[in-house]
Amino acid sequence: MAAAAASSSSSSSSIPSPRPFSPPSSILIIGSGVFGLSTALALASRDVFAQSSITVVDRSDPSQPGAFPSPDAASVDTSRIIRADYADPAYAALGDEAQVQWRKQEKPTDLGAQGRYHEAGLLLVGDVTPPAPAAAPASEGLKPKLTGMDYARMSWANVLSLASKDSRLAARVRELPNPDAIRDALGTGGSSGSWGYLNNNSGWGNATASMAWFLDTVKQTGRVDFIPGTVISLTHNDTTVTGAKLSDGRVLSADLVVVAAGAWTGGLVDLAGQAVATGQVLGYMDITEAEQEKLAKMPVMLNLSTGLFIIPPADRVLKIARHAYGYINPTTLNNIPLPLSPQTRTTSSTTVSLPRTSLADPSLSIPAEGAADLRRALSEMIPWPALRDRPFSKTRLCWYSDTATGDFLIDYHPRWQGLFVATGDSGHAFKFLPVIGDKIADCIMRDCPLEFRGKWDWKATTTTTVAGSGVTLFTKDGSRGGTPGLVLANALAE
Ligand SMILES: Cc1cc2nc3c(=O)[nH]c(=O)nc-3n(C[C@H](O)[C@H](O)[C@H](O)COP(=O)(O)OP(=O)(O)OC[C@H]3O[C@@H](n4cnc5c(N)ncnc54)[C@H](O)[C@@H]3O)c2cc1C
Ligand SMILES: *[C@@H]1O[C@H](CO)[C@@H](O)[C@H](O)[C@H]1NC(C)=O
Ligand SMILES: *[C@@H]1O[C@H](CO)[C@@H](O)[C@H](O)[C@H]1NC(C)=O
Ligand SMILES: *[C@@H]1O[C@H](CO)[C@@H](O)[C@H](O)[C@H]1NC(C)=O
Ligand SMILES: *[C@@H]1O[C@H](CO)[C@@H](O)[C@H](O)[C@H]1NC(C)=O
Repeated sequence: MAAAAASSSSSSSSIPSPRPFSPPSSILIIGSGVFGLSTALALASRDVFAQSSITVVDRSDPSQPGAFPSPDAASVDTSRIIRADYADPAYAALGDEAQVQWRKQEKPTDLGAQGRYHEAGLLLVGDVTPPAPAAAPASEGLKPKLTGMDYARMSWANVLSLASKDSRLAARVRELPNPDAIRDALGTGGSSGSWGYLNNNSGWGNATASMAWFLDTVKQTGRVDFIPGTVISLTHNDTTVTGAKLSDGRVLSADLVVVAAGAWTGGLVDLAGQAVATGQVLGYMDITEAEQEKLAKMPVMLNLSTGLFIIPPADRVLKIARHAYGYINPTTLNNIPLPLSPQTRTTSSTTVSLPRTSLADPSLSIPAEGAADLRRALSEMIPWPALRDRPFSKTRLCWYSDTATGDFLIDYHPRWQGLFVATGDSGHAFKFLPVIGDKIADCIMRDCPLEFRGKWDWKATTTTTVAGSGVTLFTKDGSRGGTPGLVLANALAE
């Protein structure tokens, strides 16, 4: 008896087996971005959830009631890079899995068809001496684990390894050992960085169109109810989250609540500083048909030393952006987020970084510092006199839910029953749209993919948010540029 018990416990510690799972009878998903929508599709497609009701709630834009997802969601934009180019082999493999879906373009109903996916190539560069982050609080240990150059080299090794299974894929990856080689591959007359590689197996997707396609696919299952509405708080009893309260007073009850509210998540759940909303700058420039023609063969260009990137134009619009530490926007909340545990005493107000977007504030523009950096990227990557002083036709602040390592946060809440979070996108989740929902559903079934265990977990030890002036979290995955810890209001005032 004792021997049997001992042997069964030792075998269960060597092979982690899923804990028994019984499907909840009702599931409420808050947010219909990449994480929320892909989760809805995966749950709706699994037999085990056949008896579960599935509801998705998303904020409504007053001018467009019922928009899913909301137009200022991170998942909605003209374009997003689709790549397997990652320093971390687990994400590289997941990107590779997603690319198989993006490349499906034969039928109009395929994900990659109708201009939703363009395999334009990705030119990724770094530099031997990365710029040191300025204005870094000394205490924070700000040195990234990886430099941009480390990231680029590890990513190169990973894509070569992934491509080694298929000689056609392998032939489409080429090292660019110096600025001249980079200039040749870019084809705009510009260059950037001192070492890099071109991967013609990567490209970009039309984010708005892909999300619309995906929403349609979810609706076609006939299994998911969509409710427009803004969640102001989670409802709960002494142990368990029981649903969500909307701004109009309605309460949506559910046995399992999945919070996938992107950069807004910290307003609903105290994330204990594990994920922080950071604002990233984007500029859109109108160009002529002739200029677009000249850029027809340009790959996506990403400088990992600074995070600055340009996506090839379409619809006569050129997009320039920066994948950086970003701006934080400390916001004092009237509705206190769900506390860390049922035992935590709540205070009357709290401050967390939350998105500020042009949906609520139509006059919002990007800080001058960010606009200048975007211009610097343009003048280096496409150094055409005609573009130098052309104004942006539009700018945007787009919000990440950033974690310290750049890993997602996909886990059950450790203290509250009935609550699961799927967030911490760290600015790189879009490409996973066709595959991430299945992984999230695995985690909901307590069978998280082995390679992401530990990475996606709720981590209790992180330093908490600092009230008022700032938030002590910086993403140190080697892919970011810019200055850490900038506060949006200060940057706007300069
Ligand atoms: C500028 C920029 C560039 C990027 N570039 C790339 C790229 O090149 N490649 C890539 O793979 N990824 C990229 N990303 C990252 C990618 O877009 C995100 O990781 C992904 O879209 C995050 O999805 P999400 O579902 O977590 O968040 P979101 O898309 O923001 O979705 C959250 C949803 O929750 C809803 N919501 C929030 N609060 C509430 C509430 N209280 N009540 C009801 N609904 C609520 C929102 O309306 C929204 O629809 C980029 C992101 C940005 C901002
Ligand atoms: C690109 O990276 C190099 C270093 O690799 C850096 O010196 C340069 O400023 C960067 N350029 C842009 C536009 O980001
Ligand atoms: C990548 O694609 C471009 C544009 O089609 C082409 O000119 C270039 O030769 C390709 N490079 C490699 C390495 O496949
Ligand atoms: C992206 O999709 C949107 C919505 O379908 C469409 O209006 C837009 O023209 C597309 N853009 C590109 C570059 O294909
Ligand atoms: C809290 O709600 C859950 C789910 O409805 C229920 O199972 C549990 O008994 C409730 N606990 C208390 C203390 O009311």
